[in-house]
Amino acid sequence: MPLLRTTRSLRTTVLAGLLLAGTALVPMASATATPLYKDSRASVADRVTDLMARMTLDDKVGQMTEGERGAATPAQSAAARLGSILSGGGSTPTPNTPAGWADMIDAYQRAATSTGLGIPIVYGSDTVHGHNNVYGATVFPHNIGLGAANDPQLVKQIGAITADESAATGVKWGFAPCLCVARDDRWGRTYESYGEVPANAVANSVIIEGLQGASLSNTTSIMATAKHFIGDGGTTGGVDQGNTQISLDELRKIHLPPFQAAVAHGVGSVMISFNSWNGVKDHGNKFLITDLLKGELGFSGYVISDWNGIDQIDGQPGFTAAEVSQAVNAGMDMVMVPNDYLKFISTLKAEVGNGHVPMSRIDDANRRILTKKFELGLFEHPYTDRSLQQDFGSAAHHAVARQAVRESQVLLKNEGVLPLAKQNNKIFVAGKNANDMGNQAGGWTLTWQGQSGTRVIPGTTILDGIKAGAGKGTVVTYDRAGNGINSGYKVAVAVVGETPYAEGQGDRPNGLGLDAEDVALIAKLKASGVPLVVVTVSGRPLDIAAQLPSARGLVAAWLPGSEGAGVADVLYGDYNPTGKLSFTWPKSSSQEPINVGDGKQGLFPYGFGLSYSRRR
Ligand code: GLC
Repeated sequence: MPLLRTTRSLRTTVLAGLLLAGTALVPMASATATPLYKDSRASVADRVTDLMARMTLDDKVGQMTEGERGAATPAQSAAARLGSILSGGGSTPTPNTPAGWADMIDAYQRAATSTGLGIPIVYGSDTVHGHNNVYGATVFPHNIGLGAANDPQLVKQIGAITADESAATGVKWGFAPCLCVARDDRWGRTYESYGEVPANAVANSVIIEGLQGASLSNTTSIMATAKHFIGDGGTTGGVDQGNTQISLDELRKIHLPPFQAAVAHGVGSVMISFNSWNGVKDHGNKFLITDLLKGELGFSGYVISDWNGIDQIDGQPGFTAAEVSQAVNAGMDMVMVPNDYLKFISTLKAEVGNGHVPMSRIDDANRRILTKKFELGLFEHPYTDRSLQQDFGSAAHHAVARQAVRESQVLLKNEGVLPLAKQNNKIFVAGKNANDMGNQAGGWTLTWQGQSGTRVIPGTTILDGIKAGAGKGTVVTYDRAGNGINSGYKVAVAVVGETPYAEGQGDRPNGLGLDAEDVALIAKLKASGVPLVVVTVSGRPLDIAAQLPSARGLVAAWLPGSEGAGVADVLYGDYNPTGKLSFTWPKSSSQEPINVGDGKQGLFPYGFGLSYSRRR
């Protein structure tokens, strides 16, 4: 007697028995019973197993594919069974508001969950110093400033706020933190690094716990991304996406510890780095991805490529079948292929069909990806929790950002000129970075490269802060070029430095000096005889040795983000500076790379930072 028939007759008997006993009937599971993977009471592992058993190769290869919002509509994304959609830097919906983002992402989810298996996407965005793609988000100091602040618990809080504001828009996956250890300050991504030694990134990797919360399934949690694995900050000459020519021992000593810490913090994803290690692109390196990251470190989340990163494996434009199979076999679980996602899908399917990529690798990747989607609660809650939008960009969030700005300021020189007197003072403020939200926020702000502009994002400029802090009888004058400076002023503040950039566009192989405008301004103010304070707004230490004698005071403000008033808090002594350099400050860029312990003598050493001996 086939089991099925026995079961059926047994079931009839039981049903009859229940009817006779008058027991309340619980409807027996029918042929259209809820599949196990949709049962939130089941274990994640069982849900993944059940779901994968129902998936076709198309479903599985689709899950391993991430497209960009500009290249895939919700319908196209669902048709391709894409596992994820991302916003590249500056890729934003209209209106660029929390509601606009939620409407956009919920449309992708509606399409995805309307397919046969209804697997939700996970939407990713670069939340590298707040939810910085979205207008009105709280924009925190970039990592170089947080490294100087040396306050991991504050950084964890920044992670929690960033997650809250991201989840409020439907973004449940942040491509942060960058745990790079920048060894050559000429690198355009130095400001994304917490410091030049692994200890800075290790200490601040706790941001992962802020981003991911106590549980990924919390409505205010998002999945973090430890990036970029591995060696991005160690390239020769600080060339972005260049070649990191170091031994395995040095790779382990300098660049691996932050990822060990990230795994210990339970990071959900890791992004592979564009750079090569001794001539081999990380994106195709099985030893790094599978043996080191997944094997030795025991990373159980999923690995994502960087933007078209697999194209670089053979050094030629575009990707080939060989690159697809090399990257996937190396351990890549999901591929960020912003535009050519259909070509990637068909190529990977063919590489499975011809045996170049074993089904076991496809299944491993899917198990990793689906595990995170279940843990994020996306199957139960695929749509945005819009109740979180009430706190988006709130005063409370901005207050935390302002505290982070205060703590990130590094006082490098003070010959009795700081703190500034609040009352009965006459302050002349100058410089291109004194009143420019865009310059003080830097790259990855509303757009990929960032942009100059006084009011690019809501917040306070450094000048706003100086004006707001001025007390009775104090006059504050601003002129970008220093026109109008005269001996009637008691102090001049020149806010100089860099304008926004990101990634390779920020590489400075030819020197780290101030630009001509800044050099001329400092000379002009020096010539006036008015005591001068120089504030640098920059993504790295700059070559200011020639200007240093002209300044009575020097403060490194880094890239403070939306709360420029936090810089003024330090200038006025409302916050006694505690920041310490997490990067050796060179005498000249000709010293690069220069790092603590290498025997070179910089202008200011790693760990240096002054405080006020007395308050005005
Ligand atoms: C970029 C960056 C990476 C970022 C990704 C998506 O090229 O290297 O840090 O997360 O693309 O924007």
